[in-house]
Amino acid sequence: MILIIDFGSQYNQLIARRVREHHVYCQIEPPDIPLDQIRTLQPEGIILSGGPASIYEKGSPKVDPGIFELDIPILGICYGMQYMVNILGGAVAGSNKREYGFAALTVKDGGGIFRGIEKETTCWMSHGDSIQALPAGFQATAVTDNTPVAAAEDREKKFYGFQFHPEVVHTREGKRMLENFLFRICSCEKTWTMKSFARDAVEEIRSQVGSGRVILGLSGGVDSSVAALLLHQAVGDRLTCVFVDNGVLREGEAEKVQDVFRKHYRIRLRFVRAKKVFLDRLKGVADPERKRKIIGRTFIEIFEKEAKSIKGAAFLAQGTLYPDIIESRSAFGGPSAVIKSHHNVGGLPRRMRLKLIEPLKHLFKDEVRLLGRELGLPDEMIWRQPFPGPGLAIRIIGEVTDRRLSILKKADVILQDEIRAANYYRKLWQSFAVLLPIKSVGIMGDRRTYEHILAIRAVTSDDAMTADWAKLPHDLLGRIANRIINEVRGVNRVVYDISSKPPSTIEWE
Ligand code: XMP
Repeated sequence: MILIIDFGSQYNQLIARRVREHHVYCQIEPPDIPLDQIRTLQPEGIILSGGPASIYEKGSPKVDPGIFELDIPILGICYGMQYMVNILGGAVAGSNKREYGFAALTVKDGGGIFRGIEKETTCWMSHGDSIQALPAGFQATAVTDNTPVAAAEDREKKFYGFQFHPEVVHTREGKRMLENFLFRICSCEKTWTMKSFARDAVEEIRSQVGSGRVILGLSGGVDSSVAALLLHQAVGDRLTCVFVDNGVLREGEAEKVQDVFRKHYRIRLRFVRAKKVFLDRLKGVADPERKRKIIGRTFIEIFEKEAKSIKGAAFLAQGTLYPDIIESRSAFGGPSAVIKSHHNVGGLPRRMRLKLIEPLKHLFKDEVRLLGRELGLPDEMIWRQPFPGPGLAIRIIGEVTDRRLSILKKADVILQDEIRAANYYRKLWQSFAVLLPIKSVGIMGDRRTYEHILAIRAVTSDDAMTADWAKLPHDLLGRIANRIINEVRGVNRVVYDISSKPPSTIEWE
């Protein structure tokens, strides 16, 4: 495995993704990880990430310098390189000038980490401080116009440093450089596959659970679905999934989940019909945050009650992913402003005194999809677009009523149909309809109409942190609008949302 020390760079998860793409397992750990723990992990190599700090700043992140005595290859990126140079006796100069963006990189020594890289290539820079003097044993191996030490190495000790970011696509041959580090320098083997992961995970769950029972909240999304299959393989009938139909799901969704999990996989499933409770509590509520809180609280209440009736359950399984784990312990994340209260079940295990099992907590989303395929989950579920916990309630602006829900569901079916038929479903992060509380005048068959406006939202994104509105073809948009206005009673106008995130968000509420 490769150990990545997290100095706070926004690109850290990207480094991890790049390493795993080569089928090498890696783990991101905070800088205060004890040296003993590093020894126990037995990494083949260590990557020191970039970060926003200057090494001279008070409180700038530091890792135990003992790592340089472990006889393990180390690659420092940006801040990570400066940290290494400084600790090993070189000099780093502060500067108030930042070098940011593309730079032409000239490779002076084409061996080792630069094996097979063109002499003149491009790299992506993002740094303030720069290296003034290298420690004994090091030599500069690449330069840019502004940076005489863009890369350096102590080949004997296998210490390497890049002032630029090899993990971003703008560094043209960055992938090759990382590959050289992994296989030529660290002698890693390609053992990280979802087949081996599934095998190990099943073993681990079995030893953790023993003869106990496990509960899992199933939403029908890819994460909880994959977690369910994995747990089912491990403990069979001692897994009970709980699915809460809150009444604000997409058309046919609840039936589909029952079909796949109960009928096809024969997984024990508690199906809770709770539409009435949710809609009763949402009556008269138009404020987005209140809607979210009502749905979140009601879900927990119902889930808790259901779970308590499952005798002997000692474990609660969740489909938590690696990015959530990394972000929740980020040393630099700090408390950020609450934009939307997300509906999640994070507080549940503590309240319910259940032990938590998170079998996907070391995986990225794309790996979860590969694992799903490995476990035989149908493509349709593997490639499911994300769907928010509060469901259609936050896509009905204003009060949620039965009638509005029914209009939105019908329009949403048409939208999904057309998006899939045009082969756009998998290209989009999300595509959905939003029902507006305002009406406009139209004309249908010589008669005046005065009905709802429906907005279409379709975005592309990698991680939902930022998103761009999708440039869907006009004829596809035309077909969607046409069908919705003709087939859904109560809508006489369709508009397309052309805002990006930021400054807008993906969901409207
Ligand atoms: P926003 O609207 O904040 O959404 O740009 C970012 C992503 O998060 C999804 N989303 C949620 N997911 N529970 C969830 O599990 C929630 O409460 C929730 N709210 C928004 C949203 O669909 C988008 O993919």
